[in-house]
Amino acid sequence: MKNVLIPVAWPYANGPRHIGHVAGFGVPSDVFARYQRAVGNNVLMISGTDEHGTPILVQAENEGISAQELANRYNSVIVDDLVNLGLSYDLFTRTTTTNHYKTVQKMFLQLYNNGYMFKQIQQSAVEQDTGRTLPDRYIEGTCPICGYEGARGDQCDSCGNQLDPIDLIDPKSKQTGQPPKFVESEQFFLDLPALRDELGKWLSTRTNWRPNVLKFSLGLLEDIQPRAMSRDIDWGVPIPLKGWEDNPSKRLYVWFDAVIGYLSASIEWATRFGDSADAWRDFWNNTDALSYYFMGKDNITFHSQIWPAELLGYRGIGSKGGDVGEFGELQLPTEVVSSEFLSMEGKKFSSSRGVVIYVKDFLARYSPDSLRYYIIAAGPESQDSDFTWLDFFERNNNELVANWGNLVNRTLSMIAKNFGEIPDVELTHPLDLALIGKIKGGFEQVGALLGNNNQKQALALLMNLSRDVNGFITETEPFKLKGDVLGSVEATEQRLKEVLLTCATAVFNLNTMFSVFLPHSSNSIHSLFGGKNAFEGAPEIASVLPSRVEVADLADSEFRYPIIHADYSAGLKWEWHDLSKRIPIAKPSPVFVKLDESIVQEELDRMSGVED
Ligand code: MF3
Ligand code: ZN
Repeated sequence: MKNVLIPVAWPYANGPRHIGHVAGFGVPSDVFARYQRAVGNNVLMISGTDEHGTPILVQAENEGISAQELANRYNSVIVDDLVNLGLSYDLFTRTTTTNHYKTVQKMFLQLYNNGYMFKQIQQSAVEQDTGRTLPDRYIEGTCPICGYEGARGDQCDSCGNQLDPIDLIDPKSKQTGQPPKFVESEQFFLDLPALRDELGKWLSTRTNWRPNVLKFSLGLLEDIQPRAMSRDIDWGVPIPLKGWEDNPSKRLYVWFDAVIGYLSASIEWATRFGDSADAWRDFWNNTDALSYYFMGKDNITFHSQIWPAELLGYRGIGSKGGDVGEFGELQLPTEVVSSEFLSMEGKKFSSSRGVVIYVKDFLARYSPDSLRYYIIAAGPESQDSDFTWLDFFERNNNELVANWGNLVNRTLSMIAKNFGEIPDVELTHPLDLALIGKIKGGFEQVGALLGNNNQKQALALLMNLSRDVNGFITETEPFKLKGDVLGSVEATEQRLKEVLLTCATAVFNLNTMFSVFLPHSSNSIHSLFGGKNAFEGAPEIASVLPSRVEVADLADSEFRYPIIHADYSAGLKWEWHDLSKRIPIAKPSPVFVKLDESIVQEELDRMSGVED
């Protein structure tokens, strides 16, 4: 049994999540976590809402509320979305907790004491007229690396590189259109060049990452520069040093604190739910523990460079040496599992232009498993992909419903109609045994693909196995096994029983494998087989008291916030299961819903409605 840490990118609490977000970090991480639990590993899947930085401030300003109020609002919206999609976090928390602040400050201090954080004057952007600090994201210009004209002061979405506003060619304030003024300001810098060799050594051992991710990460090392880890901003984690701590306009950079969320959330999990308050150490200090970080590709830099650098510096591994802090020898990522971009109807997702479908609206009209199926089957696992309503409609009807849904439905219907229970016969016919052998082999083949996060291939293989069972039905024609077509009533009935037992056994086991992708329908199918308990643990929302709330009038109130957690230990095992004979089978109602073609135009109309 291995300890497998599954850190999942933290969504900004600045709005509801759309399907592009959950295609990147959400569904793939859940599929992996479910698979790892099913094979018996000890999994810790953690995340939370990312609540600092300009993304939050900007939206708070738009909505006319404080940053903390905004974070409270969207933290709870996002929690609902993720739970409704069935994402099985062991803890989904948030970055505005005392625990997180403390953890971040300890990390900072150790890095500082080890010599990997230094002060330096930086050119910092302010509005020409007002002298107000201009957040990085509010500045647009041409990327000095790739020449893309819509690059922002924090990063270029075209080449994915992180930038500083001063790097941009022709920088302009997004709000006023004027070029910003640059003034001198002192910030803390992470000494990445001092960690470069160690980062390089580590990356050179990461040979089985997705090629795009590894190539991009190695490329980042080539021109490695110190990066500012503080900002002139009043919303974020205070810098725990004299002369800085109380300065309301200096805070740690949101990305510095967000990645530390992986550690702070693990600590919070241990405190709330672990066997001991140190239980998180099994996942972080144990050199045999594995860690798979899930995200969209615009986050790679922070996970394959900034976070590993923070970890190395914290441990005193770098050209400056240093000591290990109280968290001990924190292990670097086993793998940074990044997906590529998802677009929608050929365009970049954009809430303001209406090129968007929020998770909540999606789930109000379609089932979570249809979305999960689409995301894995057609999502951006290793290349950019485009969501279209037509493709969604076709994949739902022609693949999910026509292949797997139909197989489940006709198998159980025939059994219900003919016998009302799982037939009590032994399987000896070569055709039956061949099919059973094939499905049995699926556990290893599909499992191997899932272990490497080749989820698209794993799902395709499963769908092929399902098609094989449909083919078996076509070949054996159970619907024709009536009366005495095989010579006698007994022989005919015997063969019908064998065929249907073969199908039922195949369906039951395929359902085990499908459950990592389609946990909701898998549960329903399981209960059609008489399964009483939930087959797969479903994530739950618990309402907890905050350990820290910024908003003064909430501080003493009964304010609670939602976390996601559940005990998933009673879930399925990734293994073959022979069906118990004679369990009653009732006539099933279809588990998967066929969509009407009219939804395609309806959804397109909805999108263009927003544009007007
Ligand atoms: N909030 C960031 C985004 O949405 C992701 C943060 S991931 C973390 O792009 F590691 F920093 F938490
Ligand atoms: Zn660029």
